[in-house]
Amino acid sequence: TEVPVAIVGAGPSGLMLAHLLARAGVDAVAVESRTRAEIESTHRAGILEADNARALVETGVSDRILRDGHEHEGIELRFDGRGHRIDFAELVGASAWLYPQTDVFTDLADARARDGGVVHYGVRDTEVLDVEGDAPRVRFTDSSGIRHELRARYVIGADGSRSTCRALVPQDRSTQFFKEYPFAWFGILTHAPVSAPELVYAQSEHGFALISQRTDAVQRMYFQCDPDEDVDAWDDARIWETLQQRVAGRDGFSLREGPVFEKTVLRFRSFVQQPMRWGSLVLAGDAAHTVPPTGAKGLNLALHDVQILADVLARTVHSGDDAVLDEFEPRALQRVWRAQNFSYWMTQLLHTTPGSTAFDHRRQVGELDNVVGTRAGRTYLAEQYTGWPTRDT
Ligand code: DHB
Repeated sequence: TEVPVAIVGAGPSGLMLAHLLARAGVDAVAVESRTRAEIESTHRAGILEADNARALVETGVSDRILRDGHEHEGIELRFDGRGHRIDFAELVGASAWLYPQTDVFTDLADARARDGGVVHYGVRDTEVLDVEGDAPRVRFTDSSGIRHELRARYVIGADGSRSTCRALVPQDRSTQFFKEYPFAWFGILTHAPVSAPELVYAQSEHGFALISQRTDAVQRMYFQCDPDEDVDAWDDARIWETLQQRVAGRDGFSLREGPVFEKTVLRFRSFVQQPMRWGSLVLAGDAAHTVPPTGAKGLNLALHDVQILADVLARTVHSGDDAVLDEFEPRALQRVWRAQNFSYWMTQLLHTTPGSTAFDHRRQVGELDNVVGTRAGRTYLAEQYTGWPTRDT
């Protein structure tokens, strides 16, 4: 099969790119090693910047987010036993949407099916060849066991944080920037009512906790844990005791409990590989960069990458001028490093580093006080959390 663009990976990045390219009159075929059911049952992030929520609606993916999503006009930071609201609407006239990544994926997958886009799920033995020249190929075996070859002009590596496309950039021509953290998140889903109207990011001397939501009856919560923590060592009683301890305070706030039906440890790190383009290969989303989850930038950043890439790639393909593609990386990278900084900053602001001293703890409370106690501090957090206007990046 000949196709202008072959996309490796049909998660949110790959599917959104295929959708936007189709709208710009450029055909793309996407291949994905997981099945649709596997992707739809993997719990990921929950927050979309308003610009990305709007993009789903305005580019014709779906308007389901307007019915099933929830617009949040702020978050709460908790420390020193009290809550402090960051009012996005009042500070920066912006908001964020609670809409799980699994729903974003479902909307995109349905849109591809509705519009006749070709997506092969559940493929194996994917090989990407000849990306250095102008006739790259992608070979794969589909879910019925049939071997295919896509002959493309460009190949996009949108294959997530464990990307294999990333390794096609020769090691001596690429740089990997990364930072590891000495903690992870223990994530749960519980059948319980909502505990607070908005998300609660809690710092405590016992470590970080995040109280998020999924529906009126299902809640998503996380607490800081050791990266090697074993989920089987945690029964419901121990999980609730830990979460309650981390959000407790003199205002009497406590969580509404219920049975826990899903437990996972999320290890995290900060990572960027540059360049994002190598010959006829372009990396997008987590394949090129990952951020720690605090502040929910991973999915948002991936969606921004592909909005920029769709614009640049469509102009490249229509003009036949390969040099146009050079516009992608500098436009994408500015936001990548802003988001790297924000995710790192939110992480260090709220987590307890093992081995930290009483000084470290007091200093951290001083920083939190500066954030919530000054208009400049609150505005900084609100601006970064809700996302940077596209014209800036
Ligand atoms: C969720 C995840 C995040 O990393 C975050 O910062 C906020 C919410 C979530 O899964 O709901």
